Amino acid sequence: MKSESIRPIKALSGGVEVPGDKSISHRYAMLAALAEGTSELRNFAAARDCHSTLACMKALGAGVELQGATVRVTGHGLCGLKSSWRTLDAENSGTTIRLLSGILSGQSFTTKITGDASLQKRPMKRVMTPLREMGADIRARDENFPPLEIRGSKLRAIYYQTPMASAQVKSAVLLAGLYADGETSVTEPAPTRDHTELALQEFGATVGKSNRTISIEPNPTLHPVSLDVPGDLSSAVFFIAAASLFSESNLYIGNVGLNPTRSAILDFFTQMGASVSVAHLQTKGGEVVGDLTVKGARLKGGLVSGDLVPLLIDELPMLAALGPYTEQGIEIRDAGELRVKESDRIAALAENLKRMGANVEEFPDGLRVASGKLQGAEIDPRDDHRIAMAFAVAGLGAAGETRILNADCAGVSYPTFFSELRRLAEG
Ligand code: S3P
Repeated sequence: MKSESIRPIKALSGGVEVPGDKSISHRYAMLAALAEGTSELRNFAAARDCHSTLACMKALGAGVELQGATVRVTGHGLCGLKSSWRTLDAENSGTTIRLLSGILSGQSFTTKITGDASLQKRPMKRVMTPLREMGADIRARDENFPPLEIRGSKLRAIYYQTPMASAQVKSAVLLAGLYADGETSVTEPAPTRDHTELALQEFGATVGKSNRTISIEPNPTLHPVSLDVPGDLSSAVFFIAAASLFSESNLYIGNVGLNPTRSAILDFFTQMGASVSVAHLQTKGGEVVGDLTVKGARLKGGLVSGDLVPLLIDELPMLAALGPYTEQGIEIRDAGELRVKESDRIAALAENLKRMGANVEEFPDGLRVASGKLQGAEIDPRDDHRIAMAFAVAGLGAAGETRILNADCAGVSYPTFFSELRRLAEG
């Protein structure tokens, strides 16, 4: 297991393109496997998670051909998947297991799916409950955890109100809705990323939206697509944060996904006083894309709570780790969901921030990180990619050396993160 040494720098400058968006890549790979023909997906995520999805779709009978960042996926229609003799492995990916559970519920065969030690601790009841209501037969360890055994069957259309704001739960129900006997609808308590809805439309499904309710018509013919995946804003945020820390920084990040259900993080940075400008906005495959320029600035800090939380859920580790560098510190509340991510992110953040000398108060639903100086320390990312990358950035402004243990875990979303960080760093 490789550790990475981070030392203080003076600026982050130059140009970078981050790998394709992880959430969008998962959805394109799954839908392409249900389409009739071959889709070409360019700038497909380098993320290990998305390659877990590709491996699952291949095991279910889809054609998968990889050439650099371009993936050609051949599907045989909505009912063209085949049963896999071996247990599918979603590895570290919650999106893979939860979204696939929706698709597998509507098949005419039984599938077993599991994941790594982290995924085996993550709750699945949240998707099992609505899918069972639709008629699916799903068994889980202790009624909640992988491995899952999904016995596909004919599905009933339902109207479901998700108890938590989760794009994965919403998506599992909508994908199962492709196989239902009528229109399926989902209402969410607060808006979450809408990539599933946009992708379904790109592949030819009929999706309706009214306020917080999304509906899907069953049994569409999905056609293959030729699409570019935008760069992942949740990966770009580590560079946005790092560049903001140093007055001499001047960083250009090209081709970043700026879907309004994801870009709240940019508004939050701007509100904190960051210098982030957006150019060349365009829409591709229903997704907004643009280029960012980030310069150094004094960051005010602030509070993230309520309906804002689901809109920047994956960026919270970076925001919390920036807390000491802000004038008023950062407080995060209403974010209990962070405790059931790839790690208990609230605990991982609090522990590692304290190791660096930060003043941190931990709550069941978040944490408060005070303004103050950081010193380098040994960081245990708990096998969580976003914790590893957030503390690499925190280390850039700390005194002395910060050592990120098991830094390879960053590959779950961004395999070349550390080499890109070294390339852009000015000492
Ligand atoms: C994701 C949704 C979010 C997010 C995850 C990716 C998705 O999870 O944290 O990294 O692609 O739908 P929840 O649905 O559990 O909030």
